[in-house]
Amino acid sequence: MRPSPRQGADANKQTYCCLSLTGKAEWLRMAENLHNNPKRIIIIGYMGAGKTTLGRALSKILGFPFYDLDWYIETRMRKTIAQIFEERGEEGFRTIERNMLHEVAEFENVIISCGGGTPCFFDNMDYLNQQGETVYLKATTDIICKHLNMSKNVRPLLIGKSPDEVKAFVDEQVSKRNAYYMKAKHILEVHLMDNREKVNTMAEQLIAMTGISKKA
Ligand code: S3P
Repeated sequence: MRPSPRQGADANKQTYCCLSLTGKAEWLRMAENLHNNPKRIIIIGYMGAGKTTLGRALSKILGFPFYDLDWYIETRMRKTIAQIFEERGEEGFRTIERNMLHEVAEFENVIISCGGGTPCFFDNMDYLNQQGETVYLKATTDIICKHLNMSKNVRPLLIGKSPDEVKAFVDEQVSKRNAYYMKAKHILEVHLMDNREKVNTMAEQLIAMTGISKKA
C-alpha cells in the first residue's frame, strides 16, 4: 500500500530525527573520548632540530593549539630565556622550566614543543611520556647547525662560540642527551627543513606515526 502524503511526511520526519539523534550521539561520543583521552603531541629534540617549526605546522593541519615551552616561560616570567639564564644561571632556569612544563603539559588537546634540554632534567622525560605522544626529532649535527644558522633565536648555551665550537658542542651534547631523547614513544628522522613543503611533509609523517587525527 502506498503511504498517504501524511504518513509519508511522518516517515520522513522520523528518519530526520533518527539521523539527528545519531549525529548527536556520535558527537557526544567523540567529545567524551577527547575529554577522557586528551590528545597531546609533545615534540622533543635538540636546539635547531625543528621542534617549533614543525609544531606550528602540525597545529595548522590538526587544528589543535600550539604551545612552545620557551615562549610560555618567557610570557609567564615576562623575561627572555637569555635574561633568565643571566639572572638565575642554568640551574635556576631548569627549575622554572620544570614548573612551567607541569602547567603546559596539563592542557588538553594541544601540541607542545619543549626546549632542547627539557627531557634531560629531573624526571621530565617520564612525565612527558605519561602526558602524551612524545616524538623525538632526531637530527644530525650537520642539519642542526644548518637550522641554527637559519634561526634568529638567541641560544644562551651557544653564545660566544665559533661555528666549529658550536659543531663540537652540539655533537657532544646530543650524544649525552640521546639517552633521554630515545625514551620518546616515537622517533622521527629530521631532514633539512628549509621550505614550507618540506615542513609539511614532515608534519604529515609525524601525524601518521602518532595516529592522531584532526580536531573533530
Ligand atoms: C636549551 C634549548 C632552548 C632553551 C634554552 C636551553 C637547551 O630551547 O630552552 O636555551 O638546553 O638545549 P630550543 O631547543 O627551543 O632552542
